[in-house]
Amino acid sequence: MIPLVKTYLPAAEVLMPELQRVLYSGYVAQGEQVELFERAFEQYIGSGYSLSLNSGTAALHIALELCGVKSDNEVISTALTAEPTNVAIKMVGAKIRYADVDLNTGNICPASIEANINQKTKAILVVDYAGIPVNVPAIQAISKKYNIPVIHDAAHALGAKFNGVKAGGHFPYTIFSLQAIKHITTIDGGILQVLSKDEYERAKLIRWFGIDKKRTRLENNIQFQGYKYHMNNVNATIGLLQLETVAATVNSYIENGKFFDEALRGINGLELIQYYPGSEPSYWLYTLKVKDRVNFIKMMESNGIAASELHKRNDWHDYLNDFDSPLPVLDNFYSKMVHIPCGWWLNEDIRLKIVSIIKKGW
Ligand SMILES: Cc1ncc(COP(=O)(O)O)c(C=O)c1O
Repeated sequence: MIPLVKTYLPAAEVLMPELQRVLYSGYVAQGEQVELFERAFEQYIGSGYSLSLNSGTAALHIALELCGVKSDNEVISTALTAEPTNVAIKMVGAKIRYADVDLNTGNICPASIEANINQKTKAILVVDYAGIPVNVPAIQAISKKYNIPVIHDAAHALGAKFNGVKAGGHFPYTIFSLQAIKHITTIDGGILQVLSKDEYERAKLIRWFGIDKKRTRLENNIQFQGYKYHMNNVNATIGLLQLETVAATVNSYIENGKFFDEALRGINGLELIQYYPGSEPSYWLYTLKVKDRVNFIKMMESNGIAASELHKRNDWHDYLNDFDSPLPVLDNFYSKMVHIPCGWWLNEDIRLKIVSIIKKGW
């Protein structure tokens, strides 16, 4: 079966000597490799400061704290995402206020964000679901109009762009996940990309118990809650090697996605995603809307190609459904949504096979 997601790792001849060197170097905690990894990640993104962490969820948690979200607040979010996006909101004790999505992309709808803003709204959390960019300019305008910060969950969208700028450069806080099946992985890990240097410095303290690593323990005087969220040298070593080939890795997803965008046009029973003008997805998954999804998935699987919704819409979890808001556009989108594989493990033969079996119908 061609899987929907797959772990990419550098070849053993490249990875193992580096890992061995770091593992027995006498220093496996957060040190030089972590620093090098952060600076290299920053270069790849091209804007802001990269804070490495042990998960994308930790990045979300810190971003919410930087926004000052507390238990009597609400965060506007989307239900079409992986659970960590919204579980993180509950970690700071706030309530999740779901906005509806745009029918063309499945991503959060700017007009619905605006309609859901109220006195308790402290942050807006938007997700480039499956690697499809959100409507960045419209969301930036709302953030400015109401003076509410935006957290950009780009866990699926490494290398995605809007108006030529990569995810990481649009909003004050962007998170990436480096978990096993993302575009690049450090096995587990995450990045909080912060545009302001001051907030980056504060995030650094929150990352490690509220302790300033530049001073001795005795010189430190903790002022606020921190956590144990740092990355270590072993994970960072894997990350550094991943970054050497990140452009090619991400590009393989993009090439496959663009291929499907062309080759799957005009097929009966199938609707393609219409990306926002100016946006360039990084196609972590290839998302489609299909008629009769159950049969579509059966047909794909009987031909050896995985296909699925992958994520349960988050408002269908009782714990994540604070207001039980109606989401009619999501109801429509989600009833047809399916993902098919789009990553580096596809070759020309597999791509052509996917197109030809879909063209035969289901
Ligand atoms: C959309 C989204 N946000 C956040 C996360 C959290 O990332 P992590 O698993 O690195 O904590 C994930 C991944 O699992 C995700 O898919």
